[in-house]
Amino acid sequence: MQIQNSVAVVTGANRGLGRVLAAQLLERGAAKVYAGARNTDTIDLPGVTPLQLDVTDPDSVARAAEVAGDATLLINNAGIFTATSLLTGELSGVHRELETNFFGPLSVLRAFTPVLERNGGGAVLNVLSVLSWFHPAGYGAYSAAKAASWALTNAAREELAPAGVQVSGLHVAYMDTDMAADIEPERKIDPAVVAALALDGIEAGANEILADEISRTVKAGLAA
Ligand SMILES: NC(=O)c1ccc[n+]([C@@H]2O[C@H](COP(=O)([O-])OP(=O)(O)OC[C@H]3O[C@@H](n4cnc5c(N)ncnc54)[C@H](OP(=O)(O)O)[C@@H]3O)[C@@H](O)[C@H]2O)c1
Repeated sequence: MQIQNSVAVVTGANRGLGRVLAAQLLERGAAKVYAGARNTDTIDLPGVTPLQLDVTDPDSVARAAEVAGDATLLINNAGIFTATSLLTGELSGVHRELETNFFGPLSVLRAFTPVLERNGGGAVLNVLSVLSWFHPAGYGAYSAAKAASWALTNAAREELAPAGVQVSGLHVAYMDTDMAADIEPERKIDPAVVAALALDGIEAGANEILADEISRTVKAGLAA
């Protein structure tokens, strides 16, 4: 999949990693970048095409897939982190994490699958986490959602292969965005570095993109 001349949709593109991905897609010559956001007034990146998209709202998702009917690359980036324990946290927090971080990307992928197929295949990138594989108690809800989205990524890859749609997953630990505002600076990496690796991975047809040392170490240690 070449970024040059692609038509990309990035969910949660108004800030954080999504905004950086949208900027780098433009720099690499994407023909159009739809910047998805719950509130399009919060999109401040020149050159993108604003796209109203709340991944938890089926009507918004359906409308976005109609508007962005020329898409060839879907990046499921939008996400939340609520630090909810599965056993002692508010159950509503668990539901919110699953709704946004699992059912959200699933719903967007289902809506955009016919679009990508109609446009000749293309690619999907799901933004996952090292917490797809590493499940600390305090982050149980987020981990469960990201683990489920890893399974979604793998199942979708197999299901969409016959249509020529490439499906990749991006795993990273801490990035310097609002989501990780409470994490010490030395433990976070620049989202621009992660975005560059992600786009390189899409262009290389990688199934899995491991963006930092923590993700590589945890993945390598899974069998233990
Ligand atoms: N930061 C990290 O350390 C880290 C590590 C591993 C993985 N990740 C993953 O990286 C991705 C991007 O996160 P980030 O670090 O850039 O976080 P961020 O700065 O908090 O940005 C999150 C983005 O998701 C959007 N969003 C949240 N709920 C949404 C919904 N229902 N519909 C549409 N958009 C929604 C937000 O939009 P609003 O402005 O409307 O809230 C915002 O644009 C997420 O999938 C996250 O889980 C982050």
